[in-house]
This record gives sequence, C-alpha cells and structure tokens, in this order.
Amino acid sequence: MTNPLTSLMTMLLKRLRYIIALLGSMTILLVLYIQNSAVFFFTCKRAQRASHICLEDRGNSSWFSERYKPTVPLLLNSTNSELHANIFSWWNELQHVPNVANYTEVVNQLFSLFPDEEHYSDAGPDRCRTCAVVGNSGNLLGSNYGQLIDSYDFVIRINKGPTENYEMDVGSKTTHRILYPESAVDLNDNTHLVLLPFKVLDMQWLISAFTTKKITQTYKEVPSTIKASKDKVMILHPEFMRYVHDNWAEGHGRYPSTGFLALIFALHICDKVNVFGFGANSNGNWHHYFDETLASFESSSHGGDFEIQTINHLNQENKISMYKGLT
Ligand SMILES: *[C@@H]1O[C@H](CO)[C@@H](O)[C@H](O)[C@H]1NC(C)=O
Ligand SMILES: *[C@@H]1O[C@H](CO)[C@@H](O)[C@H](O)[C@H]1NC(C)=O
Ligand SMILES: *[C@@H]1O[C@H](CO)[C@@H](O)[C@H](O)[C@H]1NC(C)=O
Repeated sequence: MTNPLTSLMTMLLKRLRYIIALLGSMTILLVLYIQNSAVFFFTCKRAQRASHICLEDRGNSSWFSERYKPTVPLLLNSTNSELHANIFSWWNELQHVPNVANYTEVVNQLFSLFPDEEHYSDAGPDRCRTCAVVGNSGNLLGSNYGQLIDSYDFVIRINKGPTENYEMDVGSKTTHRILYPESAVDLNDNTHLVLLPFKVLDMQWLISAFTTKKITQTYKEVPSTIKASKDKVMILHPEFMRYVHDNWAEGHGRYPSTGFLALIFALHICDKVNVFGFGANSNGNWHHYFDETLASFESSSHGGDFEIQTINHLNQENKISMYKGLT
C-alpha cells in the first residue's frame, strides 16, 4: 500500500521539475530578448544621432544645385583619366615648365605604382561621414578647436599646415593632406597623400618621389622624396579642378586655391562639412597660423575675394559650418 503522502510528494516533485525547466527556458528567452533589444535600441540611437547630424544640412537650394555636380570625377584612376581636349589644354597651361612629358604615359605609370580605385562612391542617405577641413588661417590661433577638429571622421589639411606645437588650436589628427610638389611635407603612415596636380611634371614628381628620387626641380626646388604610405596616395582629377573653377569660383582667378579645392572636395565626399581656418583673422589680416608673414591674398592668382564670398554663401545655405576662431 502506498502512503498517500508519498504519492502526493512524488507528483509535486514531478511538477516542480517541469516548472523549474519552464522557468529556466523563460529566463533564457528573456535574457536573449533584453540583449537584442538593447543592441537594437543603441544601434537606432546611433543611427538617429548620425543621420540627425547629416540631415540638418539637406536644405533645398537652387543656388546650390545649380553648382553642385554629383557625377564629376573627383580622383584620378586608370579608367577615368582621359581628359576632354578643352580641359586638358586649360589644365596643361596652368603652370609652364619645359619638356612636358606625355600625359597618357605618365598616368599609366602612376597607376602601376599607386592604388587604382574608385574612392568614396558610397554616397547615400545612410552614410553620415563628418569632415573637418582645416585651412591655414591665423584665425586658428587661440581658438582651442583642437579637440573638436580631432572628433571628425576625416580631417583634411592643406599644404604645409603643421599640427605639431599647435595641437590645442588645430588638432593632431590628419586623414588627408592635399599638397603639390612645391608644398610637400612628410606625412604619417595613416594619412592619405592627396596630390593636387597642376602639371604633368607634378605626377612625374610623385612617381619619382617613391622610386628614383631624381626629380628635384619644378619651377623651383622641390623635395626629392616624401615620407608617406604609397598605398594611401590619391590624385585629384584635373576635371574636378576645372569644375571647381567654373562652377564654384565662377571663373575668378586663374585657378582655385588649394583651400577652396579642399573644401569643395569635402563637400563631395562628406555628409557634414565643418570648416576651420579660412579667411582673415579678427584684425582683417591674412596670414598663416604657423608664420607671421602677411599673405597678400587679394593679389594672388586665386579669386580670393570671390572664393570667400562663395564659402560664406555655402555657410548661409547650411551646406557647411564655418568656425571663424576668436572674433
Ligand atoms: C526645391 O527647390 C526647387 C527649385 O528651387 C523647387 O522647385 C521645389 O519646389 C523645392 N522643393 C521643396 C520641397 O521645397
Ligand atoms: C602619348 O602616348 C600615347 C600612348 O603611348 C600615344 O598613343 C600618344 O600618341 C602620345 N601622345 C603624344 C602627343 O605624343
Ligand atoms: C575610376 O573612377 C570612376 C569614377 O570617377 C569609376 O567609375 C571607375 O570605376 C573607377 N575605375 C577603377 C579602376 O576603379
């Protein structure tokens, strides 16, 4: 005869095991659910914040859309290198040097040495790339912009503009440096050297600087070599230079300044463009933050005044954000 108490206990124990198993699997499911929704929540938060940063600029401006041409080639590669005759003759006459080499042959050499790719073709509503374009104006001095500048995805610097000893005001990160042989400086391994070519000889110099080191002279003495990563080299497209000259400088000056080209380049590869170190300082003087010599900006070969007007217009239209330093 079985004890009724014992059979009750056995039954309860069976149920209990069942209940424990049920509770266990429910807990596991709950943990998985919370984990997933947390990931989902934070991903959304980040995307929301990112797209908010980028969306605030997407105004509707006919002034902008008349000038902005999304299809212009930005960087040279072996398949887009052929130039329309009118662009080639404009570009080839920007700076005169003797013994001009065959453009086609030099380009072929370029892309046997440097990356032959299509860069930054990822534009779209989901991309949110923030960029700082850092000019060389004296208005950076005392600005304390360093940390802010370093917080952007891309930091594009121009010519010789140094970071060392100016970190507080200009930051220390450099993802891209736009330069030409006469303005060349050594780069960090993680910086893209972006050549701004004004002549076939500039492309030959780039090849020489990474190989034979034989070219030491253009219209003036240039460094025979440069410290930089060969696999990070990029070359601005002559057609892009012409486009900036026609559409954005509206033909003012002989050709656009490096800073202006850098800014329009950023407009094409970034979704949010923040501009530092452009224009005069608060006394109305034009000078570089790293030397006190006054630059005679107005009389140079660039349409300086007009470029600044265009930059201010871009700022008014919220296409860029200008940081003007101490005012
Ligand atoms: C955008 O601008 C164009 C041209 O100025 C105009 O025709 C169009 O209606 C505008 N769209 C919106 C949404 O404001
Ligand atoms: C330049 O070189 C290319 C390829 O070698 C050749 O087809 C072309 O005719 C040359 N151009 C001139 C102007 O010599
Ligand atoms: C070169 O760039 C163009 C865009 O300017 C692109 O369509 C083409 O695919 C690129 N070629 C290579 C070899 O990456």
